[in-house]
Amino acid sequence: MGVYAVTGAASGMGRAAADKLRATGHTVVGVDVRAADVVADLATAAGRRYAADAVLETCGGRLDGAVLAAGLGPVPGSEREILEVNYFGVTELLGRWRPALAAGGGGRAVVLSSNSTTTTPLVPRRVVRALLAGESGKAVQALRFHGPARAVMSYGGSKLAVSHWVRREAVTPEWAGSGIRLNALAPGAVRTPLLDQQLADPASAKAVTSFPVPVGGFGDPAQLADWVVFLLSDAADFMAGSVVFVDGGTDAYLRPDAW
Ligand code: NAI
Repeated sequence: MGVYAVTGAASGMGRAAADKLRATGHTVVGVDVRAADVVADLATAAGRRYAADAVLETCGGRLDGAVLAAGLGPVPGSEREILEVNYFGVTELLGRWRPALAAGGGGRAVVLSSNSTTTTPLVPRRVVRALLAGESGKAVQALRFHGPARAVMSYGGSKLAVSHWVRREAVTPEWAGSGIRLNALAPGAVRTPLLDQQLADPASAKAVTSFPVPVGGFGDPAQLADWVVFLLSDAADFMAGSVVFVDGGTDAYLRPDAW
């Protein structure tokens, strides 16, 4: 049985993935801002450092896998936190956990991205570039001209940057070359507290419900957790840097000729 770190373990898809891993006998070290083995605020550099180190101490420097599910939705007024948690809460933790994932020779990491990477129009490239350069202040600055769309742009930018980061890092000697398989999931709207928060606000509810979903309805967090567990399994041996869309067909509908 393995040892897995799961961020965002207190709710939604992170919690569902942690439950499934525990149910099959694995040990999970959950990280969250509340109700977790390691309670830390991933919106701050100090919180991220603390979380990364506390997990490494608990697991004795060896991890079989990591699930990076902590995240914020496009909440107006939280633009900085969205960038910090959704991007640096993934890249900094995985950076510090990489040696532990390599230690066993075959660690797996799954990052929760989003189909907003391809379905949100006009995500500012300057935000994505600043995040990839590690410059959070510049990324926040680049959002200042986007008025009421700032939160949506912050969310889309954070997810686009984290997907780029996964694809770039996954195939390097440090990751693939060390036996680690790093991949991402890109869900569409999934019925979790994050989505419920959007549905509770009439303006964002309208945006969510008018989005085309060819198969209809919303995703089920338990099904998304099955995908996470699958990407942590041996089935992912030949997979690195993939971004798997599980979004009811929205991405294919909006971009039928792109792949
Ligand atoms: P959720 O809101 O149910 O769970 C997110 C978890 O992240 C919560 O437990 C929360 O406490 C934790 N978190 C938030 N800020 C934190 C911070 N500063 N420090 C530590 N932990 C923090 O959300 P859900 O839906 O399960 O989302 C999981 C991931 O999937 C997120 O990255 C989200 O962006 C992404 N996603 C969600 C979609 C949806 O429709 N639910 C669609 C596409 C992607």
